[in-house]
Amino acid sequence: MIYVTKQMSFSASHRIYNPSLSDEENFRLFNQCANKNGHGHNFTIEVTVKGSINPLTGFVINLKELKDIMQEHLISLLDHSNLNLDIEFFKHNIPTSENIAIFAWNILEDKIKNAKLYKIKIAESNSSYVEYFGNSD
Ligand code: NI
Repeated sequence: MIYVTKQMSFSASHRIYNPSLSDEENFRLFNQCANKNGHGHNFTIEVTVKGSINPLTGFVINLKELKDIMQEHLISLLDHSNLNLDIEFFKHNIPTSENIAIFAWNILEDKIKNAKLYKIKIAESNSSYVEYFGNSD
C-alpha cells in the first residue's frame, strides 16, 4: 500500500462559539476565538489517499486529478468564506479544525476514484493541526 498526499490552502474566517451556551461560558471556553465578529486563518489542508500503483501510469492517483477534485468540491466552498455563515454544515457544527476535517472527509470520500481516502489534515498554523482518519478509527 502506498500513501499519496496533496496539500492545498484556503483562507477563511470563523467564530468558535457554541450557541447553546451563554456568552460568558463561550468566552471562558474559547477566549478571543469567541469574539463576535470572528477572525481569520490561512488554513492548510492535506488529503492523503492510499492505494496500489497502476502499472500503466506508475501512479497511485494522478495528483492533478486529486487537486482538481479538492479545488472543485472543497476549496471553492471554503476559500474566502465566513465558515459560520456561508456553509450549512457549520451552522450546526462549530467550525473548529476538527469539524472542518470531518466536513472535508464527507465531501471528498466518494469523489476520489481508484484510491481510498486515508487521512485529512487541517492546520490553522505552523504549530498545530488536526488529523481525521474517518469513522472507522
Ligand atoms: Ni480560529
